[in-house]
Amino acid sequence: MESRSASWSETGRFCGPHLTGLRNLGAPAIRSILDEARRMRSAGRGAHAGLAPGCQVALLFHENSTRTRMAFEAAAGRLGAVAMVLQAGSSSATKGETLSDTARVLESQGADLLVLRHPDPDSAEFLTHHVKLPVVNAGAGTGEHPTQALLDLLTLEDALGGLGGRRVVIVGDVAHSRVARSNLFGLQAMGARVVFCGPPTLVSPRWAELGVDVSHDLDEALAGADAVMGLRLQYERLEGDAPGAAGTLRSRYGITSERMRAHPALWVLHPGPVMRGAEIAHDVVDGERSLIFRQDENGLYVRMAVLAMLLASAGPRRAAKAAEPAGTPPPRVPVKGAR
Ligand code: NCD
Repeated sequence: MESRSASWSETGRFCGPHLTGLRNLGAPAIRSILDEARRMRSAGRGAHAGLAPGCQVALLFHENSTRTRMAFEAAAGRLGAVAMVLQAGSSSATKGETLSDTARVLESQGADLLVLRHPDPDSAEFLTHHVKLPVVNAGAGTGEHPTQALLDLLTLEDALGGLGGRRVVIVGDVAHSRVARSNLFGLQAMGARVVFCGPPTLVSPRWAELGVDVSHDLDEALAGADAVMGLRLQYERLEGDAPGAAGTLRSRYGITSERMRAHPALWVLHPGPVMRGAEIAHDVVDGERSLIFRQDENGLYVRMAVLAMLLASAGPRRAAKAAEPAGTPPPRVPVKGAR
């Protein structure tokens, strides 16, 4: 399927039409989103309420979420838009309605943009072929989670003053993590070196083909690293020995206080939800080198930037479409009793 997600203006500024992943986005488009998020962060709380007044942002969530969903909802509100939230467990998906039909319902009801979280890695890309709206991937199975990686880049760049030449270790359940994938593409685009670390069952040596340093020894991986990102075990996607994998992660790959003492300049990230005492120690989460709650804060501004940029560039496109000569008229609704 041809990707319709990677597009940017001649200046390199991100302008959609969709955001399904970072794989094909490139540094200029990523840079433009980070800059926009910073501008939004430094302005006052009500400063952007005029950017998308009356717009409807549909959030379609087929998996549970706390921070991603709330950040998108808050971001829509800050832009003056309305969030229409549909949690699949309480939707007609439970009765068998297809994903594309559900999306078309939301489109028919006036949605201007669709945010999707779904267990299928190709789901967001798939929807770009079924609706005329900008589609934003808010986490697609083991595929990508682009807005999470963008907020990670923003947070890390703030802390380090730049990403070029930096070394970032991502440790834990890489095999099932869309966060690891999107961070890989984003960090590489911005010139950082990425290390994937974990047991061979969760970190395949094949990542080396994409330029990743693969390590099965966390202490070795942390030598010379600027930051470490912990990942929880994705029980919902794991097949096989979950207790065994959890035990190995805890005993050999945990981000512990001892490891933090051994690396005094190391920053710590985690996309959340954090399993305190499992992949990361309680004290490290709350420690002064933890960027975890700053990530959550930046998540709001990154989503504001992405929504604003997509809605702004979709506006003229949709207006041009509306101005096109009318095509096939919509089918008439059969009226009972009419001849
Ligand atoms: C992550 C996700 O859903 O992929 N969380 C998030 O969006 N912040 C990571 C996870 O669930 O472990």
